[in-house]
Amino acid sequence: SDRTDRTPHRLDPAGARRHEDDAGLRAQGAAVPVVLPGGVPAVAVTRHEELKEFLADPDVAKDACHFTALREGVIPDGWPLTIFATLEGMTTADGADHRRLRGVVTKVLTPARIEGLRPRVERLTAELLDGLGTAAGASGVVDLRRHFAVPLPVSVIGELLGVPPAMRGELRRFSYTMARTTLTPEESAAANRGMAEALGRLAALRRAEPGDDLTSALVAAHDEDGTTLDDRELTATLLTLVVAGHETTLALITNAVRALCTHPDQLELVRSGKAGWADVVEETLRYDAPVGLFPFRYPLRDLPVGGTVVPRGTPVLAAYASAGRDERAYGPDADRFDVTRRPANRLLSFGHGAHYCIGAQLARLEATVALEALFARHPDLALAVPDRELPRLSSFISNSTEVLPVRIFA
Ligand code: HEM
Repeated sequence: SDRTDRTPHRLDPAGARRHEDDAGLRAQGAAVPVVLPGGVPAVAVTRHEELKEFLADPDVAKDACHFTALREGVIPDGWPLTIFATLEGMTTADGADHRRLRGVVTKVLTPARIEGLRPRVERLTAELLDGLGTAAGASGVVDLRRHFAVPLPVSVIGELLGVPPAMRGELRRFSYTMARTTLTPEESAAANRGMAEALGRLAALRRAEPGDDLTSALVAAHDEDGTTLDDRELTATLLTLVVAGHETTLALITNAVRALCTHPDQLELVRSGKAGWADVVEETLRYDAPVGLFPFRYPLRDLPVGGTVVPRGTPVLAAYASAGRDERAYGPDADRFDVTRRPANRLLSFGHGAHYCIGAQLARLEATVALEALFARHPDLALAVPDRELPRLSSFISNSTEVLPVRIFA
């Protein structure tokens, strides 16, 4: 079928009915025209197999020079999503540039280094759990997102990047804003400016007092020879690590706790040893993927995707949360949270191909440690409000709820 046959779906910038909307898109096809905030036409790739193929296609690029509407100047001024296309880091680079930008990070963020963080993650988790009772006060109710799911990954990425504790709140606030897709051009510009300014201060600090952290390593790569990482690339790399390094992980922890609270039978399977905490993490990644729709990729030619031709230069979103619910890949009960599922298909929730997430191992480590320790400490933890009343995060990119009030004691 031709994409022009259809009325494009207006993507809900507030992501309010995420899985219902995704099901609607998936039913329309594997590549579905959508309209982004600001009226910008795009396409979402919605089904597991087609998305996997699309992500690894050599005729698909991430460099914004291939974004036809942006190049032709027809994108509205101050469009808040521009940053996702024009940030000069590994997420918007192809080929040799991409290998260079990614290599600077993977050289220092090695599997051994990540595994070495385990005792620190356990310690931070225990400290946060110690504080939950005080936060809950006499009511016994606490916002688990604010007091647990947020501070754990913020501290882990903060320590990894050598961010002084006093600066972490500021970086968290800018990240929180940048993950929204309901911003005005002014809000978006202010957050982008604030973030760049804060990261400039971070780089200057680590240049003056280098440590055994990633920022110091990136600054050294930038300073040693002008070709490894230029000024804008240094800022973009730090920005990507700060935002991707915690926003997604906190969503994973939040979504997992929420799924377990609304599926006590699944929690029981973990308690009785029929499934492990790693299974809970994998099933949450599939069932309620932290990255909903990720912007952008551009076909380098008119590209057929599952029978629909996506015109060259169209901005395409990878619909990761939708792919996780695809019945063709995960069976007719793909909408069910089942920690014993162990699917044959490899999940796409961390991406696929050259841009596969460099933090997947760290995210899994943090979420597994956090969930195991949380439910050991508070086995009777329960949602304090009905699930359907939980406000969604205003974003089609970041998929989670705004708060997670739970009762930790009666
Ligand atoms: C890339 C998901 C945690 C750093 C990605 C992509 C996805 C993803 C889907 C590919 C985006 C695309 O190109 O379409 C997640 C999820 C996480 C998580 C679900 C947690 C549950 C982390 C952490 C870090 C991180 C902890 C940093 C320590 C990155 C970076 C990229 C990336 C730097 C870009 C890779 C590239 O373009 O080559 N992530 N991520 N992520 N992630 Fe993660």
